[in-house]
Amino acid sequence: MPSLRMLRARLTRLGSMRLLTAIAPIIAAALFMTLAATSAGTAQSSVRPPESAISATGSPTGGAVPGDALGTTSDAEIWRAVRQGVSGNVSIPDKKAAVLVQSEGESWRLLRNGPLFDYLGLAMIGTLILLALFFAIRGRIRVEHGLSGVKIKRFSTIERTGHWLMALSFIILAISGLNVSFGRSVIIPLIGKEAFGPISEFLKLSHNYVAFAFMLGLAIAFVTWIAHNLPSRHDLVWLAHAGGLFSEGVHPPAKKFNAGQKIIFWLVMLGGLSLAVSGWALLFPFEHSFFGDTFTGLASIGLDIPALLGLPQPPYSPILEQQFNTVWHVVMAVFMICVIFGHIYIGSIGMEGAFGAVGSGKVDLNWAREHHSLWVDELREKDAMPPAAANPEPAE
Ligand code: HEM
Repeated sequence: MPSLRMLRARLTRLGSMRLLTAIAPIIAAALFMTLAATSAGTAQSSVRPPESAISATGSPTGGAVPGDALGTTSDAEIWRAVRQGVSGNVSIPDKKAAVLVQSEGESWRLLRNGPLFDYLGLAMIGTLILLALFFAIRGRIRVEHGLSGVKIKRFSTIERTGHWLMALSFIILAISGLNVSFGRSVIIPLIGKEAFGPISEFLKLSHNYVAFAFMLGLAIAFVTWIAHNLPSRHDLVWLAHAGGLFSEGVHPPAKKFNAGQKIIFWLVMLGGLSLAVSGWALLFPFEHSFFGDTFTGLASIGLDIPALLGLPQPPYSPILEQQFNTVWHVVMAVFMICVIFGHIYIGSIGMEGAFGAVGSGKVDLNWAREHHSLWVDELREKDAMPPAAANPEPAE
């Protein structure tokens, strides 16, 4: 009689045997299929037609149509045309699919993943270094006559809403956009692919949606500030003194916005519009021909941009339009990011008393006198000064 332990051991062996019998064919089949797939690949690359079939041209068919049965064009000619981007015929709605190889795509990829991103990265790092140097040399620009303690209203709630809507959405768009451009090379080595995937998905979606908040902020800022940003003769004086940025005790007169702020305003409006238009074309791809249309329009006034840049002449295929859009979008984005680095610097650590304008909406009277003396005069003429600030004591 077998003991209980022997019985259990036999049953366990039997169980293992059954498991082994069940998985063995699956593993064997998988191995067989892997081997078959591998050898098929090897066979494809190693099979060589018999020597007798290879003509003097080196081609198995001597450049002729195999069997003379499929038309009058040789394989080599067909594949050369495909490589050169010749469009074939497709019966599906996506007509872009008729082009199998688009050579400009390779040039675009090489430009984008090579010099373009190198220079854009350097531009941002260079701007930060320049600002740090400027801060080290010039230090914080102080209110020369000290803070008076008297506050005057500078920006209304609607003005600050436009500013912050634009500013916060710009920061989110900059971070999420730069993640598309530089994430693979900069972020993956730091946090790994597992974490990068979901973060990027979230950032990519936020880029799509936050874009609309940015456009709204841009529109509000345009409407509320355009009247104060038209050029005036005082701007020339301000520019001639570089706004006193490089020399202490120099305060050229300015209205509500000085020439430097006007330059930032127009850069943000035009740069923001350009980002919105190119971004729109990326959001709804293959539906626009902004580049082709713009180049054609400029050519009609004698400006042949494609010829100047060594580009093909319009009209462009939808895919080439997209490639132009991505390059333009990222170049404009980095240009604007560098401009905004400077703006954030001067509005925060770079200049004492400036932040209150967009923070609380109020600024110190002495700050206003030093940087916007003509605006202070205007407020006084309009009786728009608080009683404590009514005393017209000059700042200098
Ligand atoms: C205003 C409306 C905007 C729209 C509709 C928009 C839309 C888009 C879209 C759809 C993409 C393509 C993302 C992808 O490859 O999947 C993109 C990329 C990008 N966006 Fe924007 N964007 C806007 C504004 C901005 C702003 C303000 C900035 C910068 C501050 C910015 C920076 C970028 C960057 C750096 C990329 C990556 C480009 C690349 O590497 O090819 N975008 N944008």
